[in-house]
Amino acid sequence: MRPIPEDFGQILLCNCVSFGKYKKSKPLITFVLPTLLPPQLERRKFLSAAALLAISPSLGAEIFPKTTMPSLPSMPNEEDWNTIRNLFPLKSDKIFLNNGTMGITPLPVLHYMQHAFLETAENGSYPSHNDDLQKLLGGLIGAELDELTITKNVSEGTNHVCWGIPLKKKDEVILTTHEHVGGALPWINRARLEGIVIKTINPGKTAAETLKNIEAAITKKTRVIAVPHIPCTIGQIFPVKEICALARSKNIISAIDGAHPLGMLSFNVKEIGCDYYYGCLHKWALGPLGVGFLYINKTILDQTRCTHIAAYSNTDFNMNATPPTMGGLVNTAHRFTYGTYCGPLWSGAVKALEFYKHIGPERIEKRSRGLTTTLQNKLLEFGNKIEMLTPTEEISRGCQIGFRIKNNNPKANQEFISECNKKRIILRYVGESGIDCVRVSTHYYNNETEVERLIEELKTFLG
Ligand SMILES: Cc1ncc(COP(=O)(O)O)c(C=O)c1O
Repeated sequence: MRPIPEDFGQILLCNCVSFGKYKKSKPLITFVLPTLLPPQLERRKFLSAAALLAISPSLGAEIFPKTTMPSLPSMPNEEDWNTIRNLFPLKSDKIFLNNGTMGITPLPVLHYMQHAFLETAENGSYPSHNDDLQKLLGGLIGAELDELTITKNVSEGTNHVCWGIPLKKKDEVILTTHEHVGGALPWINRARLEGIVIKTINPGKTAAETLKNIEAAITKKTRVIAVPHIPCTIGQIFPVKEICALARSKNIISAIDGAHPLGMLSFNVKEIGCDYYYGCLHKWALGPLGVGFLYINKTILDQTRCTHIAAYSNTDFNMNATPPTMGGLVNTAHRFTYGTYCGPLWSGAVKALEFYKHIGPERIEKRSRGLTTTLQNKLLEFGNKIEMLTPTEEISRGCQIGFRIKNNNPKANQEFISECNKKRIILRYVGESGIDCVRVSTHYYNNETEVERLIEELKTFLG
């Protein structure tokens, strides 16, 4: 791939892209170019992205000041989606079908963050807490401002919840056999240290069956049901609304691992009716790595122990008193976010959510779920050469498919994934709890041609 000539980039960027609020464009651009436009950013992709950013003012103008975004028709065609795809730095010879691990952050968001880091350093401006991210996020998922706190990832939210719920020895917690390590270890650790008891259920082939399996696991000692909204393994959507209603009816706390839904599906935590919901922005919301969130229903905030606190968690403290004292915790879920935080990263997260809103949650969901449906149908045509693990019922199918290759080779799934890797098709192997399957994630920047390429690879592999 030919590197972009620096002078060309400078001219184009000076003309097309002003980095948000940043006023002194010249020194910024001189600084930005070697880092922001590395040789690996393909010339063709850069040109089309820059051209897009330069087109006439549209909806995006106020989101990324002076960086215009393409406006999309309500039913975008393939050309429109290609236009969007060119806003992503992902190399065009790479077929990235592993969004479930990490989403690709679009160029305007990366540009904005670069600007924010630079501005922080130039002005020596220590980031002071503001509510921009919580407000935007709360609007998207139906949480009130006081019920949301920002974390660094899903696992941090899981730990706050796991250790925050007062539990005694022998109290039971229901989890699934399809947990991610981040969803499993905090609870296993608490079981190890404090003697709580973990019961696991298998996800069913349908939403109704999953609910039934959970119901069957409930005993008089069950205190918490902590399950994923969408497990990382085979990506089925759990009937979380029904699960939380069941929990509530039995006075059981519900804690939902929402690593995947944000940016994939529209959902509302109040409609789900959960006590806790924790997720991240670096997967389907395509935000920067290192930003997550935790929702705590306000009715349960004061019953939730705050085991880790520091600056911003409480009102004051006095080291001259004997013994030293502290004031009360702040009256909101923000008490769980403590100490110095990465302001530019949070600004990037805000921009990622604005980008998401600009492309349009409905359009995104339709596109990504449509691609997954196509993929699942094509995989089902392989008949008994594969085992389809993701449910085929529509309410349970999101944007990820898990399947197993059925032949005599015990390493077939791993070998297929590494063959695909060699062809620059990126998939995820699911080894958790011996599930042993291939996971394919499709987001809106993927397309049918890429799905077809994967199918062709599978045909070749199966011989
Ligand atoms: C369902 C689920 N829960 C938890 C996690 C852990 O997320 P994080 O690495 O952001 O802590 C993941 C990560 O892939 C996940 O898929």
